[in-house]
Amino acid sequence: MEFDLKKLLRTNILNLVPYSSARDEYKGEASVFLDANENSYGSPLSRNYNRYPDPMQQAVKAKLSLIKGVPVPNIFLGNGSDEAIDILFRAFCRPGIDNVILLPPTYGMYEVSANINDVQTKKILLTPEYQIDMEGVAEAIDEHTKIIFVCSPNNPTANSINRSDIETLIANFSGLVVVDEAYINYSRQKTFIQELTEYGNLVVLQTLSKAWGLAGIRMGMAFASEEIIEVFNKVKPPYNINEASQQLALEALSNVDQVNDWIREIILQREQVISKLIELPFVLNIVPSDANFILVKMVDPLGVYKYLVDNGIITRDRSKVQLCEGCIRITIGTPEENVLLINTLRAYLKS
Ligand SMILES: Cc1ncc(COP(=O)(O)O)c(C=O)c1O
Repeated sequence: MEFDLKKLLRTNILNLVPYSSARDEYKGEASVFLDANENSYGSPLSRNYNRYPDPMQQAVKAKLSLIKGVPVPNIFLGNGSDEAIDILFRAFCRPGIDNVILLPPTYGMYEVSANINDVQTKKILLTPEYQIDMEGVAEAIDEHTKIIFVCSPNNPTANSINRSDIETLIANFSGLVVVDEAYINYSRQKTFIQELTEYGNLVVLQTLSKAWGLAGIRMGMAFASEEIIEVFNKVKPPYNINEASQQLALEALSNVDQVNDWIREIILQREQVISKLIELPFVLNIVPSDANFILVKMVDPLGVYKYLVDNGIITRDRSKVQLCEGCIRITIGTPEENVLLINTLRAYLKS
């Protein structure tokens, strides 16, 4: 399928002259910076944050590039992947005219972001096995369909979406296919970032909020062709990643071994939690999980949810979500937290 980025982009974005910041215009090693109206005296802190951060986050991207095997020009960093999602709508979708395809039950921000941007959503429910209804998607696509969002592993169902179906979409759709891999580190499936050279219409989202344990610093990644990344960079706020987050990310990215140990441990814990939960008589089903959470079908989900809250354990009630009827979503915690969860649920029987 022919892919023409210029045709897909909103005309105002195609013609946009981006803001040029002080740090865009001078990048050298000068010692006196009187160009950005900063406070040259410092910050009232033990560490100085008086200078604007690198708008292109070159140091963080250089490290990520080595870890991910993706060249720097193919990487965008956002204030969480939620920022990348919002930029996709703003750059590609004309409010009130264009539409995107969502595959519920899935991550809620795609729809919220669409609504904020006044972009119509066409929702094609996943099959009962939580896979893509390929015929439904094909029928829904029209000349105003700009983006298909695929979440794999999917939130809240925890399963991976069939790779061949995602490939079929990318190969046959003339708009963008966004594959949100927020939970890819826990998956048996391999990432799509190696396919970027093959497909010009592929955008892969990942985040430091999950396996990397950095939800608090707000850093998400989009991987795509250079020309798509240039669009992200044009539209983003000039200093979208603050200096503190950039420094902390750099530090954390040197600790790959710690992250890999946690991933292995969480997968192990996940399987243990599943094997113990499934023994409980009020647990009806647990979807095979490729993520750091599980979707558990129960006899009385709301009752269990409230009982857990009363015992200081917060899970996510998903029982009102279509195709997730009867389900609560449970994140895999530390071994101690998981034991507490299981023991508390065992006591539910007697409560
Ligand atoms: C599928 C999916 N994508 C993206 C995000 C948000 O990531 P970030 O913290 O990078 O904004 C989440 C968070 O729950 C998620 O479940």
